[in-house]
Amino acid sequence: MPTIESVLNETRIFSPSGIFAQKANIPDMQTYQALCSEAELDYQNFWAKQAKEQIVWHKPFAKILDDRTPPFYQWFDDGVLNISYNCLDRHLATQADKIAIIFESDNGEVIQATYRDLHQRVCQLANALKSRNIKKGDRVIIYMPMRIEAVVAMQACARIGAIHSVVFGGFSARSLHERITDAGAIAVITADEQLRGGKHNPLKATVDEAMAMGDTASVKLVVVYKRSGAAISFDPTRDVWWHEITQNASAHCEPEWVNAEHPLFTLYTSGSTGKPKGVQHSSAGYLLGAKVSMQWVFDYKPTDIFWCTADVGWITGHSYVAYGPLAVGATQVIFEGIPTYPHAGRFWEIIEKHRVTTFYTAPTAIRSLIKQGADLPAQYDLSSLRLLGSVGEPINPEAWIWFYEKVGQSRCPIVDTWWQTETGCHMIAPMPGAVALKPGSCTFPLPGIFAAIVDEAGHEVENGKGGFLVIKKPFPSQIRTLWGDPERFQKTYFPEEMGSGKYYLAGDSAYRDTDGYFWIMGRIDDVLNVSGHRLGTMEIESALVAHPLVAEAAVVGKPHEIKGEAVIAFVVLKGQYPQGEEVVQITETLRDWVTKEIGPIARPEEIRFGENLPKTRSGKIMRRLLRALAKGEEITQDISTLENPAILEQLKHPSK
Ligand code: WTA
Repeated sequence: MPTIESVLNETRIFSPSGIFAQKANIPDMQTYQALCSEAELDYQNFWAKQAKEQIVWHKPFAKILDDRTPPFYQWFDDGVLNISYNCLDRHLATQADKIAIIFESDNGEVIQATYRDLHQRVCQLANALKSRNIKKGDRVIIYMPMRIEAVVAMQACARIGAIHSVVFGGFSARSLHERITDAGAIAVITADEQLRGGKHNPLKATVDEAMAMGDTASVKLVVVYKRSGAAISFDPTRDVWWHEITQNASAHCEPEWVNAEHPLFTLYTSGSTGKPKGVQHSSAGYLLGAKVSMQWVFDYKPTDIFWCTADVGWITGHSYVAYGPLAVGATQVIFEGIPTYPHAGRFWEIIEKHRVTTFYTAPTAIRSLIKQGADLPAQYDLSSLRLLGSVGEPINPEAWIWFYEKVGQSRCPIVDTWWQTETGCHMIAPMPGAVALKPGSCTFPLPGIFAAIVDEAGHEVENGKGGFLVIKKPFPSQIRTLWGDPERFQKTYFPEEMGSGKYYLAGDSAYRDTDGYFWIMGRIDDVLNVSGHRLGTMEIESALVAHPLVAEAAVVGKPHEIKGEAVIAFVVLKGQYPQGEEVVQITETLRDWVTKEIGPIARPEEIRFGENLPKTRSGKIMRRLLRALAKGEEITQDISTLENPAILEQLKHPSK
């Protein structure tokens, strides 16, 4: 791999204000460093102490970490607990009437649910599932709109020990099918339709389409939540209405007590092969990570109104919608719609309306809102805000400053949180009352997280030098395995050359500046980050070559003003190299095809046709050349190994 050189040079520093620091859970650097030192001295006991304090155990654990067969680590495994008990029941004695969720629907209607309500609804659905023979360890696919019911479905699975796998509502029938079959799902929970930005997305019809694709005999039950009342097809041998199965179900449901390592969920994410990976998380370790990060990074206070804008289809919506906020007993906002509907001030309007204190969103949303109305935040009362957060991709300093000044009114720290589907919770992020912020840097690791930057041989590099981001020691919230593929898990995340197979390799490049701050530079594998969503280039390539017209395809990313990165596809057709009108027509056909195969997030921004792709003499596609072409850069790199240099000229410009 070519050496990664650091590219950013941001020098502005924003220290926490005295007012913020005074009330913060971690009020200064000494407190933060004391926690870090405690963890450095004995990280296992550090986490054990947290696990005892934070989690309600049905039976306490005696063993802390089982590290006999790395990287298959087990934390607290002789302890017994239930995650839904920890998120709901534990609050009933102290704050049953506290609002757990303020739900704002696409059209602005508001529904509130207290902890008591939520508990009741979760128990009823859990009982309904149980009575239909869904048991501990069964896999349940959740394909739902962003509503209270999505959280109820996840929590109900957790309550009975079923392993949920949420599929983002924007994924196509084929993507859904792939996940249903890989998981061997017993049940699917969905809705008739999803409503976002005034548009109807027929979820149930997509489930039907996926079910018709074959190999889905494992699915015995499809639960349908009635969102819009649209006409849907109904298979009485398999489909049931949510409201019908829950209405008479008992509101008492004894939790299924499980071991700490019992899988809470799997969540599919893109990697560098065509097949998405089912990232498997544990119960206790995962919840512990979600909970401590609520306190340390989001500086959670009982009076907060917390709002994370992520969909439950992504890990952010798991840890900071479905689990973390409930584990700490917070009041949170859940929003069904999109930031620009019915107008580009919707986010600011919601913050004003519900007096949001903590607002967590993605750089891509921030950039698009700057573009659509940089002055709009000033038209709303955002005085309730005290903390802002960012996740999903590096935040460019310009967007950071706008977010800080226009939304946070120069009063609210921004926590730039680096983490991944695989890490379960924040790994590198500021403790907002302690750490001075540098726009674009995720600052320092959480206590107990041993992050480092290393070279190809796993040796730490000096500050200022780029390298691979690794985590050197096990931590409770980490991925346990890839569903059904432990070998791929070990090979991908714990390569032998990194700390003798004991370092967790994140797949990002990064560097530390002279003050030790971490700066994330981007992925080192063939994973793109489009609007904060992970997309494997191989996945899009497989979709393209599955089209009858396509002989070969290579996909790369190109910097994009709003999305961060955009998908550019280089395509060789089976027939003639297309020209004129044909280019436009085939481009649209292929873009629609990818949308249908994977989902709108994977739709290529641009497609360039060639008679061939740039290849080495051994036939390997030279992606670095394609990346340069996509960016419109002159090719100054060494092309001596290139078999067919003339092809570069043809691929240089968008096809006409
Ligand atoms: C990127 C999302 C820079 C990174 C929680 C990582 C970030 C991938 C940040 C994981 C950040 C996420 N700064 N880059 N604050 N947060 N990333 O699994 O490349 O959807 O590897 O998890 O997003 O994406 P995932």
